[in-house]
Amino acid sequence: MSYQVIARKYRPQTFDDVVGQRLVTDTLKNAILTDRVAHGYIFSGARGVGKTTTARILAKALNCISGPTVTPDGTCPSCLEITAGNSVDVQEIDAASNRGIDEIRELREAVRYLPARDRYKIFLIDEAHMLTTEAFNALLKTLEEPPPRSLFMLATTEPHKLPPTIQSRCQHFSFRLLDYGEIYDRIRAIVADEKVDADEGSVSTLAQAAEGSMRDALSLLDQVIAACGGHLDEKRVRQVLGVVPAELLADILHAVDAADSRKVLEQIGQLAAEGYELAHFCGELTRYVRDLMIGRSCGARQSADPGSLPNSGSTSASIASAFQRRRSLAVLQHSAEGGERDALRAGPPLPFGIGPDEDGARAAPGVFGGPSERAGECRPSRKNCSCGCPAPRVGSTLKARCGTAASGSPDEF
Ligand SMILES: Nc1ncnc2c1ncn2[C@@H]1O[C@H](COP(=O)(O)OP(=O)(O)OP(=O)(O)O)[C@@H](O)[C@H]1O
Ligand SMILES: [Mg+2]
Ligand SMILES: [Zn+2]
Repeated sequence: MSYQVIARKYRPQTFDDVVGQRLVTDTLKNAILTDRVAHGYIFSGARGVGKTTTARILAKALNCISGPTVTPDGTCPSCLEITAGNSVDVQEIDAASNRGIDEIRELREAVRYLPARDRYKIFLIDEAHMLTTEAFNALLKTLEEPPPRSLFMLATTEPHKLPPTIQSRCQHFSFRLLDYGEIYDRIRAIVADEKVDADEGSVSTLAQAAEGSMRDALSLLDQVIAACGGHLDEKRVRQVLGVVPAELLADILHAVDAADSRKVLEQIGQLAAEGYELAHFCGELTRYVRDLMIGRSCGARQSADPGSLPNSGSTSASIASAFQRRRSLAVLQHSAEGGERDALRAGPPLPFGIGPDEDGARAAPGVFGGPSERAGECRPSRKNCSCGCPAPRVGSTLKARCGTAASGSPDEF
């Protein structure tokens, strides 16, 4: 039998299995229990957070042989066909490739006929925002007064692109991004089920890398199991995913704090040499500093996303206390801008022929807005940098990253 990817194998089959979307699933369960199921639903939210999954569960709940029920049995022909995606009475339409008026006309024709076998004729229109204006208009009348025993579900990642006329004819449910803890627990349960031995750091790395999408988390899990086999450890998982080690980010921030540009550049050079994408590194650094700031302001426990805080060991605590808010903001600004730069995406590795600058062994910390830049000590005699700030002998890529540091008093964050 062919291999089934983890995301599909572990697709929730009941409302209670859906992680982190209680508001949506409880409302749908209530609607079923009180016989108030609407004829049009919009499920919106980021990729991989449970929209299609929930739509299929609702379809099963309504068409299950023992339904309508909030706990479809999953074993009757209707449930099995819906799970497999080949039910005659539950049609899934990909609006990205069927976006025109002709497809919607066909759909309107199909709606006119009663369900072949099941209780409801259900249309699940995925990527609904891709439909053309004409197609939306053709759908309006059907959505306004659909034939009895028919139901429409529109799934979309971009609900603002749905015309207000469509939105006002449907009940709209927003699916939230999942938080770190929810993804972490799910991965833990799945690795146990798959008999994969995974240390805490590896699961934590995966949960952070997923950025709120359960599908992303499970696809990454598949990828690391393929690469590492039955034993996952943090170091290897970070390598496979290209996630910059937390200690290295901490080292770089310590070097920034000490205004040690040479060390910063060496560390970045090492990353580049190891094949890390520098634009990606900028994203990681941005997130790391953001997490430090949240941790510092709220404490890891109160933070909105506590688990994503850099490991709460002494390293990050010492950086957090050493780092002042203004400097953090400067690093955030520079790393966020760096991530956007085309030069970092496609450019060659950083030129690392850096030697001591004209004034001594320590290169000036212009790249991340270190002290001499902050104090407005740009020295035009260092003619290498077009913006006037000190960035000698590091080549155009780094010069392009020089900028003015955030201003303000050095109050702590
Ligand atoms: N809330 C969730 N709880 C548990 N698993 C989930 C959840 N959301 C997504 N998944 C996992 O991710 C897979 C894909 O989810 P789903 O197809 O529902 O995403 P989606 O929101 O429709 O995304 P897209 O917008 O990309 O179509 C599921 O098979 C399941 O394994
Ligand atoms: Mg989907
Ligand atoms: Zn059933």
